Amino acid sequence: MTVYFNGDFMPEANVSIAPNDRGFVFGDGVYEVARAEDGRFFRLADHRRRLTRSLDALRIQGVDTEALWTNVQELLPRNGLTDGHAKAYLQITRGAAPRQHAFPDPPVEPTVYARAEAHEPPLDKWRNGVKVILRPDQRWDRCDIKSLNYLPNVLANQAAQEADAYEALLVRDGFVTEGSHSSVAAVFDGTVTVHPFTNRTLPSITRTVMLELCDALDRPVEEFPVAVDDLPAADELFLMGTTTGIMPVVQVDDWTVGDGTPGPVAQELLEAFRALEPA
Ligand code: PDD
Repeated sequence: MTVYFNGDFMPEANVSIAPNDRGFVFGDGVYEVARAEDGRFFRLADHRRRLTRSLDALRIQGVDTEALWTNVQELLPRNGLTDGHAKAYLQITRGAAPRQHAFPDPPVEPTVYARAEAHEPPLDKWRNGVKVILRPDQRWDRCDIKSLNYLPNVLANQAAQEADAYEALLVRDGFVTEGSHSSVAAVFDGTVTVHPFTNRTLPSITRTVMLELCDALDRPVEEFPVAVDDLPAADELFLMGTTTGIMPVVQVDDWTVGDGTPGPVAQELLEAFRALEPA
């Protein structure tokens, strides 16, 4: 595999990261995951904007994000990924410097890494729906930044895996915020309900696309946090994410959502989502 690392394309095995890189030591960095089809990325402008926003929020400077995305795009042909589905992972840290909590002074060059690989759309999960579990949301107060600090997400997702579930829905102060690596929506009487974009959720690009589809399909939408106690009354639940797509949820812990099969609203949105062209 050819990857991009600090200005060059190289075989993955040639990447060498300093042990005092602040991404390694503090999780001091940001990332993005974008999806491509036939060599073209979906919603590239949105991913670019979100990456810039994350970098600004952490005050990581000195990255030419315009040039970087050009190089990320270049990873597709370099890895034979111009046909079919692919995904790119992109990570930037504040760079390598002797360990001290405050930013290096003078600043050091950020560490920049990107890879692209084939992506298998989760067709079975889309068709059959998935199980999720509920876990406490133990994250910090800036979940709107796509930072590398994902330990609560990792632990929640591991708990999901150990429970044979696809995802853990995170609950804070009695309200469902989002999943460990996806956004979530509930359907009540035909209305799609999503958590508003606040500091408690990631500004999910798939969620934005889903709301655009609702608009095009004349599907009513409400943006407010769903109380975990109201969840069993939902007719449908579904997850959203770059690699998750729009994924029906049919079971939460030990109770069944609706009749236990993917609901019509999620199915309609998934169909419309799959028909979208990269742009
Ligand atoms: N996860 N919420 C969280 C906490 C996420 O990590 C993600 C994405 C989403 C969905 O965002 P988007 O629709 O922009 O992909 C919501 C990525 C894909 C990951 O960590 O692999």
